[in-house]
Amino acid sequence: MYTFNHKNLLGIDQLSVGDINMILDTADAFLEISSRDIKKAPTLRGKSIVNFFYEPSARTKASFEMAAKRLSADTLSLSANESSMVKGETLIDTAQNLQAMNPDIIVLRHPSSGAPHFLAKHLEAGVINAGDGMHEHPSQALLDLFTIRKKKGRIKGLRVVIIGDIAHSRVAGSDIRALKKMGAEVTVSGPPTMIPTDVESLGTQVVSDPTRALKGKDVIMMLRIQLERQSGILFPSLREYSNFFGLNKELLKGAKKDVIIMHPGPINRGVEITWDVADGPFSVILDQVSNGVAIRMALLYLLIGGE
Ligand code: CP
Repeated sequence: MYTFNHKNLLGIDQLSVGDINMILDTADAFLEISSRDIKKAPTLRGKSIVNFFYEPSARTKASFEMAAKRLSADTLSLSANESSMVKGETLIDTAQNLQAMNPDIIVLRHPSSGAPHFLAKHLEAGVINAGDGMHEHPSQALLDLFTIRKKKGRIKGLRVVIIGDIAHSRVAGSDIRALKKMGAEVTVSGPPTMIPTDVESLGTQVVSDPTRALKGKDVIMMLRIQLERQSGILFPSLREYSNFFGLNKELLKGAKKDVIIMHPGPINRGVEITWDVADGPFSVILDQVSNGVAIRMALLYLLIGGE
């Protein structure tokens, strides 16, 4: 029997193909709980989970909280403006004080790359990286893999294009690593100012023109422009960006007939994707959100165990 032997989830590189398959298979088993009338299992009764979010979040925070509650764990959510950070306390001091209350897992979102890795070195509790700066967002990549596997029946051999602000996206950082590890072919597309110079070293192909980039692809992943992480002007205007790189019905005509369209959210309608495409028949954006709860249930279960 395969053993999942991790205390923390900090990034995709720490996971083997076997680990990822085990997370996806466990999520498959947990998916059914969310469709029940009584959406609860006693699996993590007596375990405590702290959601510690230094940056805004709708999906990830709610998803971890719902996942923990569906498995009967106790949860506590703390955001930066509710914590003593506003009184000058450091991240490590706040975390060590939370540790003194003996939680089993701390789920951390932080604007600095490497913050979850730093906490993991100093805490007894497990740490889940819920997004660190421009670095990684591993649970998002896992729910993306899960959604692709559910929709396409496999990941290996699929052709995926990621379009948008690759350079500032932690979702792209984790998705590229995860998709490559699972045997997919990955192309990235976007303005040259938003493509990292070393992205090909991760095994991706760069095709700037989105019309060419999405031809023959099984999966299109759209990303929002991460204005909050950009330090200069990287494109002339939102209108120009939208005209060149926004996914609309016209651009979609060049895609495969059974393509799926993904987006980690939050979506900026009318910028990287039009309203009709976001809500259209190829979109699996809300499936990603539903699948995210099952993936986070699987992660909490595998990382802290339970009966
Ligand atoms: N996909 C994602 O991380 O969304 P939130 O920022 O709302 O958590």
